Amino acid sequence: MSAPTVTPGLDTAPTSHPRLLAWVREVAELTTPERVVWCDGSAPEWERLTGELVDAGTLVRLNPSLKPNSFWSRTDPSDVARVEERTFICSVDEADAGPTNNWMAPAEMKRTMTELYRGCMTGRTMYVIPFCMGPLTAENPMFGVEITDSAYVVASMRVMTRMGQQALDKMGDDADFVACLHSVGAPLAPGESDVLWPCNDTKYISHFPETREIWSYGSGYGGNSLLGKKCYSLRIASAIARDEGWLAEHMLILKLTSPEGDVRYIAAAFPSACGKTNLAMLEPTIPGWTVETLGDDIAWMRFGSDGRLYAVNPEYGLFGVAPGTDWKTNPNAMRTLARGNSIFTNVALTDDGDVWWEGMGEPPAHLTDWHGNDWTPTSDRPASHPNSRFCTPISQCPILANEYEDPKGVPIDAILFGGRRKTTIPLVTQARDWTHGVYLGATISSETTAAAAGKVGVVRRDPMAMLPFIGYNAGDYLRHWIEMGKGAEGDPDKLPKIFYVNWFRRGDDGRFLWPGFGENSRVLKWVVERLNGTADAVETPVGFVPASSSLDVSGLDLSEADLAAVLAVDAEEWRSEIPQVTEWFEKFGDKLPGVLWSELDALKARLGIE
Ligand code: GDP
Ligand code: PGA
Ligand code: MN
Repeated sequence: MSAPTVTPGLDTAPTSHPRLLAWVREVAELTTPERVVWCDGSAPEWERLTGELVDAGTLVRLNPSLKPNSFWSRTDPSDVARVEERTFICSVDEADAGPTNNWMAPAEMKRTMTELYRGCMTGRTMYVIPFCMGPLTAENPMFGVEITDSAYVVASMRVMTRMGQQALDKMGDDADFVACLHSVGAPLAPGESDVLWPCNDTKYISHFPETREIWSYGSGYGGNSLLGKKCYSLRIASAIARDEGWLAEHMLILKLTSPEGDVRYIAAAFPSACGKTNLAMLEPTIPGWTVETLGDDIAWMRFGSDGRLYAVNPEYGLFGVAPGTDWKTNPNAMRTLARGNSIFTNVALTDDGDVWWEGMGEPPAHLTDWHGNDWTPTSDRPASHPNSRFCTPISQCPILANEYEDPKGVPIDAILFGGRRKTTIPLVTQARDWTHGVYLGATISSETTAAAAGKVGVVRRDPMAMLPFIGYNAGDYLRHWIEMGKGAEGDPDKLPKIFYVNWFRRGDDGRFLWPGFGENSRVLKWVVERLNGTADAVETPVGFVPASSSLDVSGLDLSEADLAAVLAVDAEEWRSEIPQVTEWFEKFGDKLPGVLWSELDALKARLGIE
């Protein structure tokens, strides 16, 4: 028997883009899929793919009267999070990957992965997904094309990106695109039946910043497989942004309107599973204030001709942490999900075909847990995985701001950095100036979460919440931030003001000192009042914190002692951070901007060290 000479679908491409056609052919020849499918992004395509996934058992259709057009899926128990240990920045020069990334020479990585990819799509369909990060109406639309052998990835990419025929048409015959190759790494022999969640124990998430390529192998989990997201919009885009003088950041974007109608735009960078999606969709508890959502994970920020920094959300959907999401904590997420059209991964399934996860109130008497097993409230394991996710269209968010589709973006007034720390870091601190703000961002510390494979709860430095996402040398990245502070017109007044927040400080008894969620609107109000020059602050060694009377806590059930504790700057705690910060900075060698050493020296002096 001879192999078919033409792979079905290969010669019926709906494009004549020469580079794209050549690449698709090359990948098909290497990976030997049964057929090639060009994704158009249409509703019938979604129906067909989700239908096939339901037939295969990978997706379970939820009860249409509760969650219309929505699906439940479970991954392989080993494939539940981003794999930072297996993530590589393959710059030509090792120094360009820097002290914080894994590196392998591009030629060597390509040799290794080419052997993994050889025949890896045997028995499977190879999908070609043209997509665009950011509005298609942008002056320079940022295209990508993902090749994948996972229909789950195609369906998820339809939620998360502007994809399909609209992107392909806009690309014409000569648009540049980031080539994104993904395989679950699980070829099927003739007659071999598929598993629910194919993946491979060998995993690589590789980035080639010079040639703007991404090669992902072995994992189907979103952060490793939806290559438009962290891989393109952060790792590759940050390298492009360095070259072109803009910023690709791990930030939510929100619009905040005061009772008087003053509009402010705020971007905030928190590490994964530290509160971006929740803050982006916040329902303020203080009367008269409104929040509208622009983005919950990624911001691309460029200076406008007026010298202000404008932010665009390149994504089209929300890929949010499920546990903890509830009508009390994040009602806007619940409303978004109620509209359907969502994919839930590794949450629990209720007997009436809805989803459930920890933090969603009292559990029902019986569930199917994320392993597919029976679960009752007496079970000793959580029903949902702590990094279980919802994937849902951002257009369904009831508080989506009108500016969302504006390719120009919104002018950012304030940047919040934040992390998850039980101790030390006050609820909110204002930086003295841009450089001090960059220092605060450069030294963010946060307890690790279930969003990445590995130990949870270990404090690590996470510069600008970008540690796993900087696509080049982190020292150069910090220098780029310092450079951005010179502004487009050398006017520091036009720069966003920088703040540092921590919703996660705990009391001696282990409970959160600050109620968080909607109550974080009180912190946003203080931020705006600082921008307006109307709120009092106390200058401490680490920056400006609210004078206890300047934070609006009216109507809040919070004791004086807890308020004091959540705002406290304890010099002893801060002195004990200094050795870690010093060690952190030493990692960067002479790449670290000298002004950041000066900031550390000034902090030490204010803390009475040396
Ligand atoms: P993201 O990954 O940065 O987008 O983080 P999420 O907004 O999805 O939140 C991650 C986890 O932190 C979820 O379990 C949330 O319920 C929880 N969380 C978010 N905001 C707060 C807050 O203000 N206080 C507390 N205690 N938990 C929060
Ligand atoms: P997030 O992103 O946790 O920052 O929302 C997803 C991920 O880290 O995989
Ligand atoms: Mn999120």
